[in-house]
Amino acid sequence: MIANRKDDHVRLAMEHHRTGGHNEFDDVAFVHHALAGLDRADVSLDTRFAGLHWRVPLYVNAMTGGSPKTGLINRNLAIAARETGVPIASGSMSPYFKDESTAGTFAVLRDENPDGFVIANVNANATVDQATRAIDLLRADALQIHLNSLQEIVMPEGDRSFAAWSRRIEEIADGVGVPVIVKEVGFGLSRETVTALVKLGVSVADVAGRGGTDFARIENSRREYRDFAYLDGWGQSAPASLLDAAEVGLPLLASGGVRHPLDVVRGLALGARAVGASGTFLKTVLDGGPDALVAQLSAWLDQITALMTVLGARTPAELTGCDVHIRGALREFCAARGIVSRGRAIAPEPELRHDR
Ligand code: FNR
Repeated sequence: MIANRKDDHVRLAMEHHRTGGHNEFDDVAFVHHALAGLDRADVSLDTRFAGLHWRVPLYVNAMTGGSPKTGLINRNLAIAARETGVPIASGSMSPYFKDESTAGTFAVLRDENPDGFVIANVNANATVDQATRAIDLLRADALQIHLNSLQEIVMPEGDRSFAAWSRRIEEIADGVGVPVIVKEVGFGLSRETVTALVKLGVSVADVAGRGGTDFARIENSRREYRDFAYLDGWGQSAPASLLDAAEVGLPLLASGGVRHPLDVVRGLALGARAVGASGTFLKTVLDGGPDALVAQLSAWLDQITALMTVLGARTPAELTGCDVHIRGALREFCAARGIVSRGRAIAPEPELRHDR
């Protein structure tokens, strides 16, 4: 049954996947400075955070594993990660805890990518023992713990108990020997949540915001009466989460609704140390196999470098010094939350006056 669910998630994520359309990354605009440009050769994509060193500020975020089909997808994702040096995360390894015969569908991420940066993934009810088994299976460099309460309540067979999550996260952060990244699955992380994660000993938070893959929608379409349709639009976008939690000080990763290299650069400019995507890369690998994903990841890295060259940022961290203009719904969110961005208050848009 769990294997069927993993196949369902891939199929439904692709059925609901939108390639175009507005999301809140569009509310982040760079002020163009025509003399800011650098020499491209002086731009480095290196990023360092939480004791980690990544050669690129981009990653393939958590997706799948647990069935023969998803094992094949993981194989193709891993090949592309190996060929481009892009870090990669596993999907939830719960199927492995329930049935050890699924091990290969996850281990392929390491088998195909022996020297890459590989991240294991567990849910927030996992024990320290399970987290350790997940890390060992992948010889993982870091562990993701996903927070998905909204998904679970809509999932017909989902969990209904979340009160133990904080305690579990604290035990895992204390009990495993790799950095722990806590992530949402597409509804964002608030300032309050990120503050709580600091106290639990977490190293990094991945905001995984609204605007891309929508697990309320995916799980709702697995329900007999599709009776949770009204949850469409729940949560905060990645840009909103980054602005909201910037002052907390925990290193942040950004994902959720990332469509192209400009979204990556926007996320970095709002303070993310690296930016990840799932749905966009899944579509590419399903349509064109590992070669298509290698081409896409290479093009993205090339274009991220190009955009940094124009913006005058030698490193991903220097992008945080760029002038950005926050507009639209994102601006409204900032005003409602009293957000001050890099020392400048983000005020509500002035009311339009229609004097005659
Ligand atoms: C996911 N995501 C996910 N996240 C997680 O932590 N564990 C998981 O098992 C899964 N499974 C999964 C399956 C599929 C098919 C997709 C597309 C995504 C969520 C993912 O990591 C990310 O947080 C969100 O999808 C938002 O990113 P995108 O898809 O909008 O780029």
